[in-house]
Amino acid sequence: MEQAVPQFAHRTVLLDEALGALAIDGERREGVYIDGTFGRGGHSRAILARLSESGRLIAFDRDPEAVAAAGTIRDTRFSIVHTSFAQLADELARLGIEAVSGVLFDLGVSSPQIDDAQRGFSFRNDGPLDMRMDPTRGEPASAWLARASVDEIREVISDYGEERFAFQIAKALVARRAERPLSSTRELAALVAGVVRTREKGQDPATRTFQAIRIYINQELAELEQGLTAAMDALAPGGRLVVISFHSLEDRIVKRFLNALANPAQPPARLPIKAMDLPRATIRRARKLSPGSAEISANPRARSAVMRVAEKLAAGVSHDAH
Ligand SMILES: C[S@@+](CC[C@H](N)C(=O)[O-])C[C@H]1O[C@@H](n2cnc3c(N)ncnc32)[C@H](O)[C@@H]1O
Repeated sequence: MEQAVPQFAHRTVLLDEALGALAIDGERREGVYIDGTFGRGGHSRAILARLSESGRLIAFDRDPEAVAAAGTIRDTRFSIVHTSFAQLADELARLGIEAVSGVLFDLGVSSPQIDDAQRGFSFRNDGPLDMRMDPTRGEPASAWLARASVDEIREVISDYGEERFAFQIAKALVARRAERPLSSTRELAALVAGVVRTREKGQDPATRTFQAIRIYINQELAELEQGLTAAMDALAPGGRLVVISFHSLEDRIVKRFLNALANPAQPPARLPIKAMDLPRATIRRARKLSPGSAEISANPRARSAVMRVAEKLAAGVSHDAH
């Protein structure tokens, strides 16, 4: 039978590297794994191919279109939940799962989300100014931009876009909406281009503003912090956490979170605390990894990817991080 070709496809980033880091071998093939960001299932399918008959994969995605795409996987070891990975703890409790062998987060937006103009993520294709990963919840970017103050808009564009012209953009946005509401991605991109005078080579003037508004609308950084904590709590000793980030704000959160677990703050040396009572590392980190030049030339969207990996240690293991 002829297979329907999906209109928008996603090319999975760091597939072999992420799979290697999850270390699905030996007894670990029988474990429970979490793919927190199903997308179009590139990582999920590869995980399923490694699991034994009794292994299990639970995938999450906030996007109903990603969840619908998961319907093509007919495998009793697989299930998908339409929610944020920040809800991991509740979902595992609901499913009666106490511990998992591995958790993967491949953060950010998928290519189908960017390429489909109707989702409103792209400044290249005109579409409604939405940007919600889950259009069934929350408010679209257009609604927020219609009501936020200059200060709120400036703060978002500055903090999440690290944009030097955040104030000028915010002022221009508020002045413009007094005439007529901003409702399309092209309108926003044109307005930003009119304000941002200098730009790094190869970068569209609207890149930083779109990134910032998207992060804010989807509360991506807060969700990531919750997801990391929930993942670490869910992992069994020996379990692996693998996180692929696509910009420095995300990667900084992941790096700091893992650093704190690998090198917990120690009390001042003068306090009379026995060595065995000092805080110990709860994870072992692997070196961070980025895609090689072959992957980047085959898939330019991979160029900003950074992967970090941690292994949860059994309680009582010495706190040397390798
Ligand atoms: C980069 S894509 C993942 C691609 C996937 N690994 C693949 O190979 O097809 C990111 C996906 O994660 C989803 N996502 C982003 N943040 C999320 C969150 N907090 N909870 C659940 N899903 C999220 C997005 O909707 C998107 O579908």
